[in-house]
Amino acid sequence: MKRDWHSRFADDIKDYGGYSIGKLFELLSDPGIISLAGGLPSPEIFLKNEMRSASQRRLNEDIERIMQYSPIAGETSLIHAIIEFLARDGISISKDNIVVTSSGQHGLDLTGRLFLNPNEVVLVDRPTFAGAIVAFQLERPKFVGVDIQEDGSDIDGFRRKIEELREKNKIPKFIYVVPDFQNPTGITMRLKKREALLDLSYQYDIPVIEDSPYRALRYYGTTIPSIFSLDQARDGGNVIGVYTFSKLFCPGMRIGFNIGPKDVIEKMTNIKEGNVLNTPKYNQDMCTAFLKEMDWEAHIENCRSYYREKLETFLETMEAHFPRQAGVTWTKPEGGLFLWVSVPEKINTSTLFQEAIKFKVAFVPGAAFYVDTPALNHMRINFSYPSKEQLVEAVKRLSVCIRRKL
Ligand SMILES: Cc1ncc(COP(=O)(O)O)c(C=O)c1O
Repeated sequence: MKRDWHSRFADDIKDYGGYSIGKLFELLSDPGIISLAGGLPSPEIFLKNEMRSASQRRLNEDIERIMQYSPIAGETSLIHAIIEFLARDGISISKDNIVVTSSGQHGLDLTGRLFLNPNEVVLVDRPTFAGAIVAFQLERPKFVGVDIQEDGSDIDGFRRKIEELREKNKIPKFIYVVPDFQNPTGITMRLKKREALLDLSYQYDIPVIEDSPYRALRYYGTTIPSIFSLDQARDGGNVIGVYTFSKLFCPGMRIGFNIGPKDVIEKMTNIKEGNVLNTPKYNQDMCTAFLKEMDWEAHIENCRSYYREKLETFLETMEAHFPRQAGVTWTKPEGGLFLWVSVPEKINTSTLFQEAIKFKVAFVPGAAFYVDTPALNHMRINFSYPSKEQLVEAVKRLSVCIRRKL
């Protein structure tokens, strides 16, 4: 018998479509397609041998505990390793300020669940990380977006939006940003703006969620202090950090962590108990091994030069092939895994995507990264996964597709 399941789904979920990028990957099963669409780190630089031996060693040493349930907030050994990892980045926390998550996406989910009631406002960049949009969307908030600028979030724009909202007796529940090499644009927020964002956060008492998966992957220039560390220096206590090891170690282990004030972390841990209980101990142990045994600093240095070369190849090939004079432009990220290409407004990149697939190259149409009235003439490009030869070929193919639409 055919039953009407849709009418039985919860109101919050009925119209929930999940991640449009996820569905897009179904189109990419053809191995001939060069995909600039995912956010995948390159398996070429995974620490495969180190992983094999760490895995064998841990299984030999502790198989019974690995096969067992483990503490909800996370394994003590991993928490200590993360505290040391953060100390090298100017962040000083204790175990009460951290909950291990089953990856960054889980960290965002915990954040949304903790803070958002239906119709409450979340302030974000336009564009912003699509995974954060879908994670928060589960709570049915109202998103308010402000166009991002070349040097990061438009803090004056945020202020104007907050003022507008206050006139309607509303105040954003939090401001969500990806300040280092933002997904999708690759843009980095300069120091002055980080400080200005904190000023705003204190003035209106709005927490800042700093999502920071790419921070260590800087290819040019000097590291800018995290918003979390700047907040600590000012004793603000108004920032929550969302981190993941997906891009530094590997996404397969699904390990991340959230940091913040004790009260926040305690509640996030309660929520975690209700949604995943504990993060698998094996995965946490592999991450501890990454931090304690695998010389992660040398690995990240290696990632930097490896990805820098790919980024350079991509930028050089775009320079040589993309029709700049026709109004095609792109960001030049200082790190991370993505850049953002803008084409003349008459080109809809969702249509361009269909064309590109015929030419066996894929990207993510920019519309996925907007919380409201999407701009239709952008594409998110990932340059970390394909080989350099594929990157060159992908730019050439894309260039043909763009020129056909001009
Ligand atoms: C900005 C941002 N936050 C969070 C995540 C989620 O990370 P994870 O793969 O660990 O769930 C990503 C992944 O691409 C990301 O780009």
